[in-house]
Amino acid sequence: MTYGRILDMKPALPEFRKEVIASLSDNPKWIHPKFFYDRKGSDLFDAITWLPEYYLTRAETEILTSRCGEIAALTDGVTRAMELGPGMGRKSLMLLRCIGGLKEYVLLDISMQSLEKAVELLEAEFPQKEITGICSDYLSSESLPMSGNQSRSMIVFLGSTIGNMETSDAERFLASCSRQMKNEDLLFIGVDMKKDLKVLLSAYNDSSGVTAEFNLNLIRRISEEFGVDIPEGTFMHRAVYNESLGRIEMHLDCKADLSLDLEGTLIRFRKGESIHTESSYKYSPEEFGKMLLASGFSGYTRLSDSRDYYSVFIARK
Ligand code: AVI
Repeated sequence: MTYGRILDMKPALPEFRKEVIASLSDNPKWIHPKFFYDRKGSDLFDAITWLPEYYLTRAETEILTSRCGEIAALTDGVTRAMELGPGMGRKSLMLLRCIGGLKEYVLLDISMQSLEKAVELLEAEFPQKEITGICSDYLSSESLPMSGNQSRSMIVFLGSTIGNMETSDAERFLASCSRQMKNEDLLFIGVDMKKDLKVLLSAYNDSSGVTAEFNLNLIRRISEEFGVDIPEGTFMHRAVYNESLGRIEMHLDCKADLSLDLEGTLIRFRKGESIHTESSYKYSPEEFGKMLLASGFSGYTRLSDSRDYYSVFIARK
């Protein structure tokens, strides 16, 4: 189905209830982070990106704006970009401003709402460019809409979303990108770096409690979608850094024994038990560089922000 310049290839909604029953029946309990992003969760994530402690978005924006000359030189000859998960398109706009040779910009996102806003935003400033939105679950598909012709293309994947994948899935994802690219095509990817523990921990334990609300939104969603009562305060947000795995982990800690009947499946929580809701991997420049080379890329350039908190890797097939 097509809405104006937006192609709807969205799969049936992920089965929240079925998947949550299965992952809460596991030991230890977990919930996939994709379930954060209902309407309320997406608004909360947007609020997170403006928090003083959440440096990731600001650092990436700094790179896209202050390193624009280098980005333009490194992507010279690229005429087509395809961005995975552009959200509202704020960073897509920065890239289009920076890379003058881009003639075509394709946005892929699971949210039709965000896509509509993003396409509108880009078209308003760049009416002469070909802007297309595709509503799809780009992560579970092996086939990106790569260009059939000879034009040089670039896959754009920002926001350190790759950090939310398990390392083996991240490697599989990078290899799948490289397999689908032609020689001379580029991957333009934002990655959060390992850094001082205090900086990392406060980004996921912000003082205004927005990240806690974002995490606890899963409990509200479970209550609403299953029609079960979970008393306020039963779960608490916890974010820790797992040094050996190099990742921030978010958990929901259960503060009292609780039994939930989820459509006939009894889920028992013991006081002190937790649900693992997200991992956010942090890489060193060398670790991520190695992953790129092992995934079929021939080389890369790394651009970082002034504090070296965050990196954009521009990798060549
Ligand atoms: C979307 N993703 C890169 C965010 C992150 O930092 O891992 C999600 C997030 N979780 C808590 N705060 C932000």
